[in-house]
Amino acid sequence: MDSARRPTLRRVSELERRYVSECLDHGFETSKGSVFCTRLETAFAERLGMDYAISFVNGTATMHAALEAAGVGPGHEVIVPPLTMASTAFVALQAHAVPVFADVDPETFQIDPASIRDRVTEHTRAIIPVALYGLAPEMDAIMDIAREFDLVVIEDDAEAITNTYKGRQIGTIGHMSSFSFQSSKHLASGEGGMVVTNDEDLADRVRRFNSLGYAGVGSRKGRITKTDIQDPTYARHVSHGFNYRMPELCAAVALAQVERMHELVGRRVEVAELFLGVLKDCAWIVPQKTPAHCTNSYWTLVARMEHPDITWHRFRDAFVANGGDGIYAAWRLTYLEPMFADGCPVRHPAYRGTYQTYAPGLCPNAEAVQPKLLQFKTNYWDWSEAERQADVLAKTIAHFS
Ligand SMILES: Cc1ncc(COP(=O)(O)O)c(C=O)c1O
Repeated sequence: MDSARRPTLRRVSELERRYVSECLDHGFETSKGSVFCTRLETAFAERLGMDYAISFVNGTATMHAALEAAGVGPGHEVIVPPLTMASTAFVALQAHAVPVFADVDPETFQIDPASIRDRVTEHTRAIIPVALYGLAPEMDAIMDIAREFDLVVIEDDAEAITNTYKGRQIGTIGHMSSFSFQSSKHLASGEGGMVVTNDEDLADRVRRFNSLGYAGVGSRKGRITKTDIQDPTYARHVSHGFNYRMPELCAAVALAQVERMHELVGRRVEVAELFLGVLKDCAWIVPQKTPAHCTNSYWTLVARMEHPDITWHRFRDAFVANGGDGIYAAWRLTYLEPMFADGCPVRHPAYRGTYQTYAPGLCPNAEAVQPKLLQFKTNYWDWSEAERQADVLAKTIAHFS
């Protein structure tokens, strides 16, 4: 591998510093409005080719607002995958609905449309497919189910950006899509999130929920203006909402990250390809399958450990002993987390009592796959370190082969 062709990147560059400094120069004067949030929203919508982008404090509040905007509430069910970070299911509870878990494909690890179809009931209102690890789920089949049963699809794209499904960019297929700028994500501003949509009515509702139900905000307007409120009879709140707005300082960082999007995502893809090169001759570590009609933005490079004798822990310990970075485990399945398994509060006439419990056996593929997953970091900004990690991986595999 020719290191010279892969420069050391800086995750936080001079651009982020310049925008933060500009933001501080504004002194948070309310008359200046939401300068960086507005610039960020415009830049993000443009890059995805979407009509509306609404910035948020994180990529969980985004999905809560999207569910509320879609009219999801008590008595409704929301279909989600269990193999993901728990926010995807938590937001159903935040909207006073019931999370219903659909199984995953054992090769791509994405939510399986056939299992979604099995889970649809008269109470179902929404599906939240997750683009897990940087790969899109089977969106055409999911959108077909949504059309057939009149459901809203909210893409959870916290772990994906710029990757494509049948030539379409992630985030452009569902009715609304949610992104995260949390520290571990492709584009990071510490915390932050974004909802995108082409539906003006949904965009208005999402914005209002994000901003305390203010009358004066809308799809492309994030702040009420000073002139509006210089009137003692001004009616501010027309609906329920939270203060889920992204702070301006985070927006300044996120704007720079969005402008550097291809550089930042490109590095993760290069690192994933380097590791895939090492794994290609190893029969017992099977990488996530990226179908031919998809590209992968590799938030992490994930693979199934299929060795008959070597345990996940033994492999990880050997990797670390050889000088490897930690290998992350996949999250425990959401419905097996104590919060869900022991009983979570729901308001649903179809369920007895107010607590819904979940038991093992619900999603057999996810249960079989989750304990085997090895998640390798792809965020090496120093290329020589990525190469060193690839060598450590090769050495560890050789040790057990
Ligand atoms: C798939 C997925 N959904 C949602 C979230 C929540 O995003 P945030 O941490 O910005 O709330 C995350 C990660 O943090 C995630 O990985």
